[in-house]
Parts: sequence; structure tokens; C-alpha cells
Amino acid sequence: MTKIFQSVQEWIEFRKSIGGKTLGFVPTMGALHEGHLTLMRRSMAENDCTAVSIFVNPTQFNDPNDLTHYPRTPKEDLELLESIGVQYLISPEITDLYPDDYRYQVSEKVESNVLCGAHRPGHFDGVLTIVLKLLNLTQASHAYFGEKDFQQLRLIEGMAKAFFIPTKIVACPTLREQDGLAMSSRNRRLTPEHREIAPGFQKTLKGASTTEDAIRKLKEQGFEVDYIEDRWGRRLGAVRLGQVRLIDNV
Ligand code: PAF
Repeated sequence: MTKIFQSVQEWIEFRKSIGGKTLGFVPTMGALHEGHLTLMRRSMAENDCTAVSIFVNPTQFNDPNDLTHYPRTPKEDLELLESIGVQYLISPEITDLYPDDYRYQVSEKVESNVLCGAHRPGHFDGVLTIVLKLLNLTQASHAYFGEKDFQQLRLIEGMAKAFFIPTKIVACPTLREQDGLAMSSRNRRLTPEHREIAPGFQKTLKGASTTEDAIRKLKEQGFEVDYIEDRWGRRLGAVRLGQVRLIDNV
């Protein structure tokens, strides 16, 4: 049975009983898929116990419409956690995680303003702030993040280093559908037509000779392109199909 903590205080009390055992932590915003479960299985293999958080973090959504439509599947999520044997679920209310009403924020001044940060102002401040809160609360030995959100992963690694956070940040490879589409909670919002087009995103990132070539090819296939850039030894991109924004990197 997965033990559920809906209150921060209850978790803090319980955390003491875990003592010196290693705790793995997988932060999520729910709408769980195989990509998340892979992080959890790895955490369970590498630690004495594992905690997962499900919290749709409002401070990282610059677009209120995106926050409203973010998929929420609490019943299915819990069934999945139980099915793989995750011990602890932390799922608090907004006011519980933001007693300061977001007066205190973590902000990074360089890499958070490019790529996704340039298109989603304030997004990474929201991400870094909630991740710092959750790492402080869990006091995890290891925390697991997917490489699909490569910019997020880099910024979290940087924050952990800058603030001497003792948790080891573990980067995990992107999990993909058979047709190459990176797994994402947002995929379930794609229309059948857009779902058919979507695998072209990764194929084009990989196949195009230049970023300009990739942008042109993606537009031809029906994608709206936020950005495609070569950076950090990777090619990263964000595109839109209708209301749904997809990111990936190769
Ligand atoms: O990657 C996500 O799902 C979120 O950005 C995270 C790390 C759980 C913070 O809300």
C-alpha cells in the first residue's frame, strides 16, 4: 500500500522515522506514464525506500490556460504507484507548499532565460522554487529527473551545486513511444490527427542538417515552432500542435 501524505507537517513528522535509510525521490505533476514509472523503478532499485510527489505546481505555469488544462488523473496515478510498490506519495495543497504565497523564489540569471525560459517567462523560477522546497522536505539521498526536460535538469543540477544540496541529482534517459515520440503527460491531450504528426518532431530534430532546416521541415509537417537550437552538445526544441506544447532534445 502506498502511504499518502496530503499535509506537509504530517510528512515532516513521518520523515524522522525513516532515519538513516536511503530515500529516493521522484517529483512529478501527476498524469503518470511509463516514463515516470521508469524513474520510480530506478529509485526503488537504488534506495531503501522511495517517495513520489504529485503536485501541479502553479508557479511554473506562465499561461493560466495551460494550468487549467494540464491533465489530472489522481485515481489512475495512485493505482500505478500501488502497482509498482511505491511506498510514499506526497501530494499537498498549494497553500501548504506556499505558506509564503510565493514571496520567496529561487531564480537563476543565465540559462533560465533562453530556450523554454525565453518563451515561458518565470517558468524556471517556479520549477526551481518548488524543487528546492521538495528537496528540503524529503531530504532525499537521490532525486530522479528525465532528460526530456533537459534545460530543467541542467538548472536543477546547477541549483543543487550552488546551494550545497546534499541530494544527488540523477539524470535518466528520455523514454519514447515505439514511434519515437518522447513520453509526456501532455501527449494525452493531442488529437488523433496531431498524435500522428507528433513523431515527426524527434525524427526532424535528428535528421535535419541545421536548425533552420529543422524549423522549415517541422513547419511543412504542420508544427508551430517555438524554437529549435543547438546547445550543450544537443539539439533542443519546442513545438506546438494545436493547444499542446511538446519539447524534446536529441
Ligand atoms: O518535470 C516536472 O514534472 C516538474 O517540472 C517538476 C520537476 C515536478 C516540478 O514541478
